[in-house]
Amino acid sequence: MNVRHFRKVADLDAREIRYVLDEAARLKRQPHGDVLDGKTVALIFSKPSTRTRVSFSVGVYQLGGMPLFLGEQELQMRKSESIEDTARVLSRYVDAIVIRTFAQADVDDLAANAGVPVINALTDDRHPCQALTDIFTLEERFPDVRGRTVTYLGDGNNVAVSLAIAGAMTGVQVCLSVPEGCDVPARLWDEIVSVAKQHGTRVWVERDPALAVAGASALYTDVWFSMGQVPDESKRRALQAYRVDATLLARALPEAVVMHCLPAHRGEEITSEVMDGPRSVVFDQAENRLHVQKALLAYLIRGS
Ligand code: CP
Ligand code: NVA
Repeated sequence: MNVRHFRKVADLDAREIRYVLDEAARLKRQPHGDVLDGKTVALIFSKPSTRTRVSFSVGVYQLGGMPLFLGEQELQMRKSESIEDTARVLSRYVDAIVIRTFAQADVDDLAANAGVPVINALTDDRHPCQALTDIFTLEERFPDVRGRTVTYLGDGNNVAVSLAIAGAMTGVQVCLSVPEGCDVPARLWDEIVSVAKQHGTRVWVERDPALAVAGASALYTDVWFSMGQVPDESKRRALQAYRVDATLLARALPEAVVMHCLPAHRGEEITSEVMDGPRSVVFDQAENRLHVQKALLAYLIRGS
């Protein structure tokens, strides 16, 4: 059987993304099932997590399976055993491996040597589970998201990359509003542009945040310093104008929503006023991780 992985958003095609999002909507209405009956899912985490760890654990349980949390410190991996051998051994025990780590190459290596699906739960480059969920959350607010614009403001990080690719594959236009020095790395930007071209969608960079939010249906932001990065004062200064606040939100469409993958640094990349305001969907995003990842796991494990 051909093992399917989710190392990045584009590991699924547009039709498969549609299927997973529709299944997620069904699972949101009917959370319990037996599709993972007797199955075990390993969760390897080398970075902290609240949402991803808990939503995967609860999701596996709700579908009849058993989640097995493995903090990287507890494993032989990278100490006395390679990632490749870890993949081979775990594949003899478990039915899927979810991994959050630093280098994307480590997820790719794990997948290349695993006999079971590997799911990327965040790397320095990508956060594909978050991005699928973000499209799902947008669709809850805007039944036809095609042609709508999401403006991402802040640091051109893992969340921005996966959001841009998921948007491109589902017909959502993504505007990245990032200051100079905070751009998405060139190799990932090239990939985003190529996926957008392939799907006939639009992605672009607009450095002026006031221009970037005009016409947007959603303003999205994330922390200015991701896990593993050392905070840097000049970067912090450059990002001040990109804080999502009431003034920027007032320039977006009247129906525009505010998004953040969380955890948020209130008062830094987003104000509490908008995060706790009526147009915020940030806690819906957090909840929806559960529904979308359950649909994704079921799809990959069944090998449909
Ligand atoms: N959004 C997200 O992935 O949150 P955690 O770091 O808490 O998993
Ligand atoms: N960009 C953030 C996302 C956290 C969910 C990070 O990598 O720390």
